[in-house]
Amino acid sequence: MNILVEASLEPEVSSTFNVEKIRADFPILNLKIEDKPLVYLDSAASSQMPQPVINRLNYYQTAQHANINRAVHYLSEVATAEYQKARCKLQQFVNAREDREIIFTSGTTDAINLVMHGYGRKFIQADDEIILTTLEHHSNIVPWQMLAKEKGAKIRVVPINEAGELDIHEYKKLFNERTKFVSLIHVSNALGTINPIKEMIAYAHQHDVPVLIDGAQAAPHIPIDVQELDCEFYTFSAHKLCGPTGVGILYGKAEMLESMQPFKGGGDMIASVTFAETTYAEIPHKFEAGTPPIAAAIGFGAAVDYITTIGLEPIAAYETELLNYATIRMLEIPGVNIIGTAANKAAVLSFTIDGIHPHDIGTILNEDGIAVRTGHHCAQPVMQRFNVPATSRASFAFYNKKTEIDALIAGIKTVQKVFL
Ligand code: ALA
Repeated sequence: MNILVEASLEPEVSSTFNVEKIRADFPILNLKIEDKPLVYLDSAASSQMPQPVINRLNYYQTAQHANINRAVHYLSEVATAEYQKARCKLQQFVNAREDREIIFTSGTTDAINLVMHGYGRKFIQADDEIILTTLEHHSNIVPWQMLAKEKGAKIRVVPINEAGELDIHEYKKLFNERTKFVSLIHVSNALGTINPIKEMIAYAHQHDVPVLIDGAQAAPHIPIDVQELDCEFYTFSAHKLCGPTGVGILYGKAEMLESMQPFKGGGDMIASVTFAETTYAEIPHKFEAGTPPIAAAIGFGAAVDYITTIGLEPIAAYETELLNYATIRMLEIPGVNIIGTAANKAAVLSFTIDGIHPHDIGTILNEDGIAVRTGHHCAQPVMQRFNVPATSRASFAFYNKKTEIDALIAGIKTVQKVFL
């Protein structure tokens, strides 16, 4: 991996990225766990929230809260306007053509289920084929399996190599006249692999096949331009992007969203209702039944503002520096195996230690205040591919620093002393 050659071993801050100033925005990073400073290396599961986003949520709840789209009173109009502003921020964040192409969902899983029900159940038939990849999170496998079972359709799976990279040659070979949909992860949550989605989308389009991109792990780290990517759907969650839990977006091309059937029925998604017939509202409302996560959506908008102010390009460069440093330090320890060594990788380091179960690794690291995720990462096919039941996973965000990686390395050495 040529990334290793370029990495700096200096255990200090990047010259171009003021991480201490950024850390001051995150009150939770001052916590002590087991009387040790918190070392939070689980941002791929959920990132932490900076003070400006906390303040925004607080202000909304203190001075702006009401239900939206329903009343003419002052607070309802304010809340409706703020919710809509959040939609426009997300539109700009992914460079969608129109704000109505942004649907607020409860998160990435909800968005994929929306597309499965709204598009898949309407347009996919018996013997049709849906292409997924070995790298998918369960949220981008199970809904399509449910659809395949209901319709008699087939799931085809793109394999990965030993580095955890998709076999693009095999991907191309999977297409035939029965291929009707591609749903694929942008960045693997289990391994960090960044997939060549632009090329994959373009190839699917040569066969007139629409593509959904699960961007849950990508949007916090890579600038997204849905017009440039030309995907039909793109989805991610707020809570991995310094925002609150309970909200995410589905971007969909307007003509696709318009062609789809609603996923959930209820208030706010209708044009008119009689017992004889219901007609549906225009997009985006057609897909936002019931009271949406208003506060969370507004917090999501504030999170996007925060990330945009720092800039995704400097964030990505700094996180790559952290990943390279952590990779070098990890390779120094005998008995540690890095799972996932793609040439193009986000700041996720999955590893195993010979002779020690990943859960034991997580438990001992926690005693040193170090938070990593252990388990199958909701990506059991990835674990099966590497023939491991689980891994430990350190995932880095732009508020982490090299001294925290040093703490992780020291923690791993302690784990080995305890168990070996
Ligand atoms: N999908 C999240 C993760 O990778 C929860 O940890």
